[in-house]
Amino acid sequence: MDFEKIKQQENKYYMPTFNRANICFTHGEGNKLYDTLGKEYTDFTAGIAVNCLGYNYPPLVEAIASQAKKLIHISNLYYNEPQSELAETLIENSIFSRVFFSNSGAEANECAIKLARKYYVKKGVTGKHKIVCAVDSFHGRTLATCTATGQDKYSAPFAPLPEGFVHVPYNDFAALKAALTDDVGAVMLEPIQGESGVVPASYDYLVNAYALCKQKGILLILDEVQTGVGRTGKRYCFEHYGIQPDIVTLAKGLAGGVPIGATLARGEVAESFSAGDHGSTFGGNPLACAAALVVQKKLSEPEFAAHIESASKRLQDRLMQLRKYKFVADVRGKGLLFGLQLSPKVMNVEVIGRARDKGFLIASAGRNTLRFAPPLTITEEEIDAMAKMLDEIFANTNI
Ligand SMILES: Cc1ncc(COP(=O)(O)O)c(C=O)c1O
Repeated sequence: MDFEKIKQQENKYYMPTFNRANICFTHGEGNKLYDTLGKEYTDFTAGIAVNCLGYNYPPLVEAIASQAKKLIHISNLYYNEPQSELAETLIENSIFSRVFFSNSGAEANECAIKLARKYYVKKGVTGKHKIVCAVDSFHGRTLATCTATGQDKYSAPFAPLPEGFVHVPYNDFAALKAALTDDVGAVMLEPIQGESGVVPASYDYLVNAYALCKQKGILLILDEVQTGVGRTGKRYCFEHYGIQPDIVTLAKGLAGGVPIGATLARGEVAESFSAGDHGSTFGGNPLACAAALVVQKKLSEPEFAAHIESASKRLQDRLMQLRKYKFVADVRGKGLLFGLQLSPKVMNVEVIGRARDKGFLIASAGRNTLRFAPPLTITEEEIDAMAKMLDEIFANTNI
């Protein structure tokens, strides 16, 4: 099928929700993608921080194929082995006590919101329904999660919205503290705001937020949909801060590209749901869980952790070198999630288009930022090649 035909079909039949790049991929191998013309691209987007083991990674492909031959779906009316094995693996390798599986980041967050509210109901505590979120956050597209998201453009057209969400400026501890009134039951934050420009929580901010929540008996929910599963060089980004959130959400990289979401909780919070309180037809299906087990196995290899650490240093170093250009306003991030913010004189989407022409995929993020979230398997040679290409583009940027 040729690309023109694909575009015609899409334009006619698909709801116009996406601003797509003029490109269609047919397959991938390692950290490379190939389009309908056979052109090769080195991928620094990983399907927006999803394809953490790159493309056609043999153990992942084999696990999916072998599970598909046995059982793709069975529903949660019955037990299934990959699901219980994944639950054990996640819990035994974390500070959490229980997990619930869904199919996306938004669903994982929706579950976290319901779990927090149910926690108080179960304890017989009333009037703690409010959830404090951050301005510029992103938590998903369901009605509750787009309301939790601190950007009106994602929620305003869909009013009336669910009640009980309050937004305070990110990285502003005084504002957070002032918002923690008696009716607040939970604080929900991203440890790095990915969509709005790869903005990490400062160490003091997150540690103080955690301490204050603990002191006031307010739950801390961390949305690690983008930052979890090794993306920042640790299994969970919160480990960089030495804190212990009550609830954490995962999705994106968790099954290396197969849709999955997970909500993990600690202690009493983890015991809040009873049978019938929450559910999912597809959540925790054997196919997604078999894929996720491959990712978990890979993350437990010390050589892989060492690889992520050295690739991260290389990426940070190469991006920092680009600060020699005055229009590079900032470089920030952790692990293999970095943002390079450009001054308003240079448009990020233009740079992304020029990089694509040269065979490199980079994503955009808010604040006129280039977002780098490659497969965790990205090599130092690929990082160097990308940085050299960006250097050439910047050298020819006339401002
Ligand atoms: C931090 C964060 N939370 C939630 C979501 C929503 O995830 P999904 O698109 O899988 O629903 C995203 C997606 O980009 C995200 O980055």
